[in-house]
Amino acid sequence: MVFDHLHEERVLILDFGSQYTQLIARRVRESHVYSEIHPFNMPLEAIQAFQPKGIILSGGPSSVYDPGAPISDRGILSLQVPILGICYGMQLMAQQLSGSVERADRREYGPAAIDLVSSSPLFQDVEREGVRVWMSHGDRILELPPGFTVLARSDNSPVAAMGDPNRNLYSVQFHPEVAHTPCGKDILENFLFRICHCKPTWTMKSFVEASIQSLKEGIGDDQVICALSGGVDSSVVAVLLHKAIGSRLHCIFVNNGLLRKGEAESVQRVFRDHFDLNLIHVNATDLFLDRLKGVTDPERKRKIIGNLFVKLFEKEARKIPNSRYLAQGTLYPDVIESVSFKGPSATIKTHHNVGGLPERMMLKLIEPLRELFKDEVRMVGRELGLPERIIMRHPFPGPGLAIRLLGEVRREKLEILREADSIILEEMEASGWSDHVWQAFAVMLPVRSVGVMGDERTYDEVIALRAVESVDAMTADWARLPYDLLARISNRIINEVKGVNRVVYDISSKPPSTIEWE
Ligand code: XMP
Repeated sequence: MVFDHLHEERVLILDFGSQYTQLIARRVRESHVYSEIHPFNMPLEAIQAFQPKGIILSGGPSSVYDPGAPISDRGILSLQVPILGICYGMQLMAQQLSGSVERADRREYGPAAIDLVSSSPLFQDVEREGVRVWMSHGDRILELPPGFTVLARSDNSPVAAMGDPNRNLYSVQFHPEVAHTPCGKDILENFLFRICHCKPTWTMKSFVEASIQSLKEGIGDDQVICALSGGVDSSVVAVLLHKAIGSRLHCIFVNNGLLRKGEAESVQRVFRDHFDLNLIHVNATDLFLDRLKGVTDPERKRKIIGNLFVKLFEKEARKIPNSRYLAQGTLYPDVIESVSFKGPSATIKTHHNVGGLPERMMLKLIEPLRELFKDEVRMVGRELGLPERIIMRHPFPGPGLAIRLLGEVRREKLEILREADSIILEEMEASGWSDHVWQAFAVMLPVRSVGVMGDERTYDEVIALRAVESVDAMTADWARLPYDLLARISNRIINEVKGVNRVVYDISSKPPSTIEWE
């Protein structure tokens, strides 16, 4: 089921393969205008049907003269919709409108300063000289297309920005969407509000209101099933649906015995007691641990856990009469079909994206967050009154602690890992570092090492601390945690968790390592 939230005003972003395309969409939305990313070759009729208030052409790694370079339908330039070309988008605009583009003597990459040479709504309220911008291009404009004037220049780019105010066509050589262009937000907002005349109506409050309304209408009197993991996405989906259909929402929470300390209790407390949600709690700890006996191969662990989860979920779901829908927390980055993003993306798929189940059970899918970026989901969560603890929660893998406990998963080892992990989380929170890292957690190694405690020799477990910074989990770097925080975590784990005599810090980046160890 597609719920159209009736975006009155939307901006279309055509993607030519820039690593920053998603950032453009997020910046536009941060300015409270709804935007969507589509591939550069979106057909003209589809663009017209989309009815954009404005179009942004992204950057991209190609040169307009490359064979096979991405070329959009030149008809968009005559739609009488305002257009902003960025970097490659600028060169394409120039070329399609009979200007010319040349390869610059040297690639310009990094910070640059531009000076404005003529006034334009695009640069309203922006400094006139020495404006700091971020460049990343090889080609540059040699001849302006007819009707255009130069708006800004830099030492290396005689045409750093150009515009044709009569046709509302504008282009910039630099990247206004990145943080290294401090006035970038002003420039984008000038485009949105002074050139496209958009109204800033996209807010999470309006999203929540429109969503609840359309969920109500779309679902009618039917029952909906939702897998609740306690992570931010499924929690927001559950509470949003609960607001729309109340007790006709049935959340199923499967405790696989591989959760963090206190997790199962906290999910029940928050959702059953606080939000009064219909929550079915399946405690399947014994079943999962039984199936994992003797298993050490990471892929087999994942398969066993995933399959068992689906089976249990299906069993519970079948008990709910008249259920017609399955709700999932799919997010926008998972559905973007674009050049830079191999969408629908193959990145983070939770096992709660209960593969195959909807068809087998003849359920229809509801994905109320499929238009949102992660930071927007968090804002929706706040709007819905979810506790900050859940909203700012780090991602947690579906197979849980099983893939952080290397080797065979055994109860007593799980207990040790859980205790060590909870000390890490506590200290990360207390120090304020939790919000600065993508994830921080404990890993238990399948080796023991010698130590000395008091007068006694010990031969105990090793815990590895993994803390990484990342924006999307595709790449990550180990967090430069302060030594005193590392020391506190290590001391506490060794002193408080019986069975551990050594803590090590994982200083590997992704790639070539991964964030999880299995
Ligand atoms: P890796 O280890 O591939 O992890 O660098 C990238 C991100 O994905 C999370 N992850 C998972 N999430 N089910 C999930 O829901 C899984 O099976 C799974 N495996 C990894 C991981 O925690 C990190 O954020």
